[in-house]
Amino acid sequence: MTLLEKAELIKNEFEADRQAAIDGGKPEAIEALRVTYLGRKGKVTALMEDLRSASKEDRPAAGKSVNMVRSHIDGAIDGLKALALKWELAAIINREAVDITLPVDEGHQVGSLHPVSLIRQQLMKVFRSLGFTVMDGPEIDFDFFNFSALNMPDNHPARDMQDTFYVETAEKMLLRTHTSNIQIHTMLNQQPPLRIIAPGRVFRVDNDMTHTPMFHQIEGFIVDEGITFAHLKGTIDTFLRAIFGPTLKSRFRPSFFPFVEPGAEFDVECGMCKGKGCRTCKSTGWIEIGGCGMIHPAVFEAVGYDSSRYSGFAFGFGMDRIAMNRFALPDLRQLFEGDYEFLGHFPTRGN
Ligand code: DAH
Repeated sequence: MTLLEKAELIKNEFEADRQAAIDGGKPEAIEALRVTYLGRKGKVTALMEDLRSASKEDRPAAGKSVNMVRSHIDGAIDGLKALALKWELAAIINREAVDITLPVDEGHQVGSLHPVSLIRQQLMKVFRSLGFTVMDGPEIDFDFFNFSALNMPDNHPARDMQDTFYVETAEKMLLRTHTSNIQIHTMLNQQPPLRIIAPGRVFRVDNDMTHTPMFHQIEGFIVDEGITFAHLKGTIDTFLRAIFGPTLKSRFRPSFFPFVEPGAEFDVECGMCKGKGCRTCKSTGWIEIGGCGMIHPAVFEAVGYDSSRYSGFAFGFGMDRIAMNRFALPDLRQLFEGDYEFLGHFPTRGN
């Protein structure tokens, strides 16, 4: 048999074996096929060796056809390898498939989201839709960010409004009493325009029906040229309506916070009594939600912003209070007792 004939024969054998492997559908048959033809003792390898002993005259023609057979088999094996991978994948998918038509295990408990998480998710969605960026800041912070830079220098009487947990360190550190520290961190790191929303944990020495030592606030602020109180009111109104529904009443009252001027507080109608007056709203019909105002020039000065060019507004409020009102909870402490019975009433997912 000439080399040419031999090459032709091997090619035909391979074709038959290839078809058998494909029909068999077993990945290991493909590896075996590779070894049979291209392995160290394989048929193609032997053919290559024969080529070396071919006569000088025969070699060019024989070489050409041997090489053609080799590259044909090479390519075919590559194709088969890809096929084998597909088979393996299909086998895995088959093996690990979940039958979604099976009935649900009745004893199975699905967790629910904490009411504060539900409110936070909802608020983030509203503020994102208004173009705000979500930011974070440290819970343990220097006095400067929590107080001094917010226009509350040492001995400022407004520091008494917030009973602070101090940390015993050489430099004065504390558990932040509000999320307003994020204003300072952000403004020191970025230049206007800013449109920031920042939810987080805050801490105060306080514990009764409407106060817990740790609670959750949200800080929001905008700094740009030409920002007015009208922008502030529009923003607060929009988010209150998004959270409490378009019909719930809200109001603004003048108030004081050292880091804003003018300052205000905003309230919503009490969710428990619908404004008639009850224990929760201390018979006023209103629930205080948070504080707000136009950012004080002293704050801009502390972070090196030009207060003749930029103006801004800020607001801060408790998420727990919102959860209380939204879900008509009589006692704030319910939120932190980890009572499954109570927490299980809330939905398993937010928006
Ligand atoms: N930081 C204040 C507090 O915890 C809430 C607050 C009031 C935040 C007015 C603000 C603001 O940004 O403008 O009591």
